[in-house]
Amino acid sequence: MAAPHIVLVGLMGVGKSSVGRALAREMKWPFIDTDTTIESNEGRTIADIFAVEGEPAFRRIERSALESILASSQPTVIATGGGVVETESCRDTLAAARRSGARVVWLYATIPTMVERTSRSNNRPLLEGDRESTLTRLLDRRGTLYRSVSDAKIETDGKSVARIVREVMNEVANVQPTSPAGPRRVRVELGERAYEVAVGAGAIAALPQMIPPDAKRAVIVSQVGVPSIPELDLPTHLVHIGDGEHAKTLATVEDLCRQFARFGLTRNDLVIGVGGGLVTDVAGFAAASWHRGTRVVHVATTLLAMVDAAIGGKTGVNLPEGKNLVGAFWQPSGVVCDTNWLATLPERELRCGWGEVAKYHFLTGDDLLTMSTDERIARCVRIKADIVAQDEREGGRRALLNYGHTFGHAIETVTGHRFAHGEAVAIGMICAAHLARILGRVDDARVEAHYRVLDAYGLQSVLPADLDHDALVSAMGRDKKATSGLVFILDGSAGLESVANVEPVHVLAALASAAGVR
Ligand code: GLY
Repeated sequence: MAAPHIVLVGLMGVGKSSVGRALAREMKWPFIDTDTTIESNEGRTIADIFAVEGEPAFRRIERSALESILASSQPTVIATGGGVVETESCRDTLAAARRSGARVVWLYATIPTMVERTSRSNNRPLLEGDRESTLTRLLDRRGTLYRSVSDAKIETDGKSVARIVREVMNEVANVQPTSPAGPRRVRVELGERAYEVAVGAGAIAALPQMIPPDAKRAVIVSQVGVPSIPELDLPTHLVHIGDGEHAKTLATVEDLCRQFARFGLTRNDLVIGVGGGLVTDVAGFAAASWHRGTRVVHVATTLLAMVDAAIGGKTGVNLPEGKNLVGAFWQPSGVVCDTNWLATLPERELRCGWGEVAKYHFLTGDDLLTMSTDERIARCVRIKADIVAQDEREGGRRALLNYGHTFGHAIETVTGHRFAHGEAVAIGMICAAHLARILGRVDDARVEAHYRVLDAYGLQSVLPADLDHDALVSAMGRDKKATSGLVFILDGSAGLESVANVEPVHVLAALASAAGVR
């Protein structure tokens, strides 16, 4: 037993299989579910084994399956049956595996979450009758056993699979994915303004190479609560800007520029934006304005900034009259997307990022869902980099990056920002898919593909029933991009395209479909 397997333990319904499968994809290891192995070895279901042979016999079968899986020299992610800790010999087997380098992680969920999750499956022999009291009893009995066999406990309530995976990976940080690729480098080809984006776990290590050798000092623009970057080899001055859209103003830029002046920042120096899209937009615009243009490096700490805001040089601030009305195209000298920071993000923030990732599924035919998170983010960066290289100033193709955004912005406005940007864009893509179908551009299967992608990211896809569709259409008419009637990016046989002068009656029909029961 020499392999550093990762073994997931915990009660039924905590997500061991879905987390295990996604974790295996990240580690590039095989995934084995002990229950599935037992069922295929025995040629019958766990429920049948329980019913015919009884629990003690099942536990013996389980122990020998676990022993042979752990004996493999191929590092593997292993999801165990919930009762594996009931048998002393299985606990001993797990302890021996830990001594040989395996890590055991206890996935924990509260009773209501497990009741909810287990109600979707009938193949739970121990859960007949009152699920809540059975689970409570099992947790009482097994809780201390799970603790005794595991290296770490991870709470899973309300967390996405991707987030739990990231937390498990942080816990087992001494176990490395197979052939770690190191950060990927994606080049944004813009001639003399070309730059690199470093993407992956630990990509922050690439930051010092992105600092221009002639820069003598740097101002770091960030926000309270954003992870800090390692110390750099030049004098720095840290400035925190405020949180939320109200901080994205000309007043903030003025304040930043005055701090640049007091720190003695010259045109040859550097601004480093560390944070999400708000920070990179504001820091980028301050850099674009300072001495008519000072270099900027972005360190994206949110998923949304990694796959979108920090790449491509769009910078700007809001006015009371509208969002992003004042700005400049100002390409950074480099961008860092360190995916280790994804684990620090609140769940909703991460979900919003997935909303932006979802649009990349429809920009290309790539099946991003089969990729690990790091590969997928690097692929999104690659897609965006290629589009920006072809159309830096949004004269054409770059507008495709706004897929779902016409509907999405209207949803944000009409709901008074009850939906965050990424959530609204996700629903916006569903509306756009229905609109494309109504206009005869795509078929029902393509609309269904949109729902599948959103479901995979745990994103809401149904337009809320309480929204006033006429108000949504008038909000779209006020969109600053609506220069030729209502304009949408729509799917079609040739992929995404910009479609102008769409009739409001078709938009209303799309909204009705998007609000309908699936
Ligand atoms: N966020 C869309 C773009 O950068 O063009």
